[in-house]
Amino acid sequence: MQAIHALAQRYGFKIIEDASHAIGGKYQGEPIGNCHYSDITVFSFHPVKIITTAEGGMALTNNRELATRLGLLRSHGITRDPELMTKDMDGPWYYQQVALGYNYRMTDIQAALGASQMTRLEQYVARRHELARRYDELLKSLPITTPWQHPDGYSGLHLYVIRLQLDKISRTHREVFEYMRAQNIIVNLHYIPVHTQPYYQAMGFKEGDFPEAERYYAEAISIPMYPTLSEAQQDEVIATLKEALGV
Ligand SMILES: Cc1ncc(COP(=O)(O)O)c(C=O)c1O
Repeated sequence: MQAIHALAQRYGFKIIEDASHAIGGKYQGEPIGNCHYSDITVFSFHPVKIITTAEGGMALTNNRELATRLGLLRSHGITRDPELMTKDMDGPWYYQQVALGYNYRMTDIQAALGASQMTRLEQYVARRHELARRYDELLKSLPITTPWQHPDGYSGLHLYVIRLQLDKISRTHREVFEYMRAQNIIVNLHYIPVHTQPYYQAMGFKEGDFPEAERYYAEAISIPMYPTLSEAQQDEVIATLKEALGV
């Protein structure tokens, strides 16, 4: 983030930081979302994320003008703030539409869930770290690569993604994945490289354009990682993974 920010200073572009996975994480010891190196940070509160509001998310900024603009866009471009109006108010009922906006308001019920989830954020992320440390330790002798953490960061650990060392096993990526699912271990694949999706292919991107992303896709599997995962369940994931890998 610091290096991207330095480039933004040099070339004059803006930074929107997609931190959808990263709430509760830190960068250089400071919470993700402080916009120290970005203009806007966004979080997702989709149900699978670290905390949820059932659906929805949050955009943060330290820039007053951007905050005002975001507030307007959220609610049809309408304001009740006299300072944003083009003339004096007709009366206490008055509002003005000063931009074309959307209905992006979060419901009060979702906000209540989010406020309650926020009180548990640290506890959730700490538990994810306990589980990750345990995975790191118990998986280290297997023919897989476990996640690496840059020393500048403290991850929210939304995901725990392993990469198969396919040259060291006699099973395919798909076979390992399907074996886990067949044993009721709900693994997943985050994510399919976007340039292989039809929308981007229609724009001219093609397979082979981003070989590292494609290599990642050919090896990656997200294994269960959520705060209520018990150690016994985690042991079962590990035992099943060993079977799946054929080791
Ligand atoms: C990196 C990233 N950005 C954006 C999104 C979209 O978030 P939402 O579904 O809350 O709009 C996701 C959701 O999976 C994500 O993982």
